[in-house]
Amino acid sequence: MPFYSDKVMEHFQNPRNVGEIKDADGVGEVGNPVCGDLMTFYVKVQEGKLADIKFKTFGCGAAIAVSSMVSEMALGKTIDEALKITNEEVAKELGGLPPNKMHCSNLGATALHKAIENYQNKNKATP
Ligand code: FES
Repeated sequence: MPFYSDKVMEHFQNPRNVGEIKDADGVGEVGNPVCGDLMTFYVKVQEGKLADIKFKTFGCGAAIAVSSMVSEMALGKTIDEALKITNEEVAKELGGLPPNKMHCSNLGATALHKAIENYQNKNKATP
């Protein structure tokens, strides 16, 4: 049984921002090639800031804790700030993950960044 930090357990048991945003401004989905788990992030952008973030994660406890932490770290941030959040920072914020669970932390920030990129692509000025 891997050893999870209290923070990981807490986020796993009470994940923040779970769900879906029906009229999301951006959606990002990533699959984990190691285990096949899936994570989807939805973002709502207002005045250049992430006004709402929701996620759906079909994955292990670590992946759920990671999603929850990413959503909490990014909420209210500007797009540029949110794009700077790295998977390593998320794992660190969670008090670390067991070595055999580090691959689970590679989804969170990536899925969030994809959702933001999706928003940016949709809002590119058409020539
Ligand atoms: Fe798949 Fe953790 S085992 S994300």
